[in-house]
Amino acid sequence: MKNKILITGGAGFIGSHVVRRFVTNYPHYEIVNLDKLTYAGNLANLKDIEDRPNYRFIKADITDPIEINELFLKEEFDAVIHLAAESHVDRSITDPTAFVMTNVIGTVNLLNAAKECWKGSYAGRRFYHVSTDEVYGSLGETGLFTESTVYDPHSPYSASKASSDHFVRAYHDTYGLDSVISNCSNNYGSHHFPEKLIPLAINNIKNNKPVPIYGKGENVRDWLWVEDHARAIDVIFHQAKSGETYNIGGHNEWKNIDLIKLLCSIMDLKLGRGSGDSEKLITYVKDRAGHDLRYAIDSTKLQENLNWVPSLQFEEGLAKTVDWYLENEEWLNDVTTGQYQNYYAGQYITLD
Ligand code: NAD
Ligand code: DAU
Repeated sequence: MKNKILITGGAGFIGSHVVRRFVTNYPHYEIVNLDKLTYAGNLANLKDIEDRPNYRFIKADITDPIEINELFLKEEFDAVIHLAAESHVDRSITDPTAFVMTNVIGTVNLLNAAKECWKGSYAGRRFYHVSTDEVYGSLGETGLFTESTVYDPHSPYSASKASSDHFVRAYHDTYGLDSVISNCSNNYGSHHFPEKLIPLAINNIKNNKPVPIYGKGENVRDWLWVEDHARAIDVIFHQAKSGETYNIGGHNEWKNIDLIKLLCSIMDLKLGRGSGDSEKLITYVKDRAGHDLRYAIDSTKLQENLNWVPSLQFEEGLAKTVDWYLENEEWLNDVTTGQYQNYYAGQYITLD
């Protein structure tokens, strides 16, 4: 039994969905959410479950080894589901060091604390590392990433995630740590911070602002409903063998420009605008440096071994996502004031 589970990064986008799922589905588990609450962390994401008796929040920084070691010794967690990270590729291009600190050093701090606390006795204990398909680099027009695709990261973000994956495997191979890793494609859904393509576009379309498309909009991403990712994490956490890796993806590839056109048509309907009105906001801007052309996941292993399949069609999921943002104006306003304005002005300097 894995009873007392530390979830790191639980106040972020995917983490909050994972925390909600575990708190709700496993009332006999004690779920501890550890988060530094960076610009991307928001406890409002967990308002609906914050009073549940099996949930607790701890504000802490995974880059601080003393704080993390003390916490592990005091709390004696049975398992870790590690999501805390700097997660935005564009920010990694302007400040790579922050990504090394959180994604590499932070992960190693957690591995050390787990190793010290568990002292080689891993029965019923597990370190689950949540990673990304970006570690595999970029695909051409064809092909899919499998679990044996060679790592070939290009951005400082993906290099830091690749490094953290290697450390998790090294702790498994060297110290026998019970660990699993999953590498997932692009997620979408509620509570997604509006620095990422879909929520940024929703916010801009809503406010009649230009929608920035990098380069020619030809880059392809494989989009997965965030709750399907949380369900995959649940299944892998409980059923994978130690040392295994699983790829998670939606079999749902979209060119950025096609995705944004679909989003514009959904928003025209929801906002009562004329057909084609929102598309006029599309604005091509300078391409992202080192922009990976295409990501696409082969999730056969997960589907066949653990019976997981994505639950939602993209059109339905995107419409639900738009509804959530339109119904949660206060959330959107809160996260797009202050610091966000400075980030936006710096990142989209060529837009106006
Ligand atoms: P996010 O940026 O929304 O959330 C990250 C969370 O980590 C935030 O709550 C933040 O406060 C916290 N955090 C950051 N630095 C910290 C530190 N030093 N100490 C403690 N907490 C800290 O990210 P997300 O999109 O929810 O991604 C979560 C995880 O999933 C990441 O590891 C990311 O690499 C991975 N992932 C994301 C996607 C995606 O599409 N978003 C896809 C695959 C994998
Ligand atoms: O593939 C998984 C990864 O997906 C995760 O590991 C990352 O944490 C997550 O941020 C995401 O990375 P991407 O770089 O693919 O996501 P982003 O939303 O930033 O960009 C999606 C695509 O849209 C990408 O090709 C860049 C493009 N884009 C993005 C922004 C923010 C634009 O054209 N305009 C924009 O303004």
